[in-house]
Amino acid sequence: MKKPIGVIDSGVGGLTVVSEIIRQLPKEEIIYIGDTARCPYGPRTEDEVRAYTWEMIDYLTSHDIKLLVIACNTATAVILEEAKERLSIPVLGVIHPGATAALKVTTNHHVGVIGTEGTISSGAYHRELTTINDKVKVVSLACPTLVPLVETGEFTGHMAREIITKALAPILQYDIDSLILGCTHYPLLAPLIEEVVGSNVKVICSGDETALEVSSLLYHKELLYTGDITPHHIFYTTGLKANFKKVAEEWLKPHSLDIRETDLRL
Ligand code: SIN
Repeated sequence: MKKPIGVIDSGVGGLTVVSEIIRQLPKEEIIYIGDTARCPYGPRTEDEVRAYTWEMIDYLTSHDIKLLVIACNTATAVILEEAKERLSIPVLGVIHPGATAALKVTTNHHVGVIGTEGTISSGAYHRELTTINDKVKVVSLACPTLVPLVETGEFTGHMAREIITKALAPILQYDIDSLILGCTHYPLLAPLIEEVVGSNVKVICSGDETALEVSSLLYHKELLYTGDITPHHIFYTTGLKANFKKVAEEWLKPHSLDIRETDLRL
């Protein structure tokens, strides 16, 4: 079906999910919104996250999307069930795919999760992991200092490494063998996080698994696009186009990008 997949995030982090969808489903068209002007969502109240996320959803559903991916963990924790109930299209979040990916690789059943204050205090990863496997031990940590690194484009270098080392120290006291990056921004810091946690801890980015779920859902609902028209992806930002472009070009390298500013007004 020649309709776009809608992807929403609080900022640029959801591009890590988009990049995997484009890799796994190159014929599919994507419309993305990053609410960069109001990012981060992590420290916001549930009511704020709910209101902002519905603004993005309403904007995208007016573009006739065939499936919605909530690529922001904080928004997934607050709104996924509500969105599934209210929308007539399939809706996916990133928490279930991240949990599934960790359970595939852990051998000592001791899984670490890092995310925003909102995601960690919601207990959403803990619930998801232990619902699937009640033997698994979960240790969670909020890392509020990491999102600003990504939003300002500082994903490499000495300062980023120092901030990551300090932020992760409390979780590395536990015998975890896998670490879920429970925030869509963190995969942009994955090379540094991998260096800091060492080779005994497998770092899990939920983008791959989320894209797999998108693929299987489109297939089962007979919504995959099978024609030959080259997709034209559109990226909306509620912030400044130039800031968004810097990160988007780094993350989605080979694609020429149509980036537009929006105030989400319909
Ligand atoms: C944030 O908006 O604070 C980070 C995005 C996320 O939770 O995945």
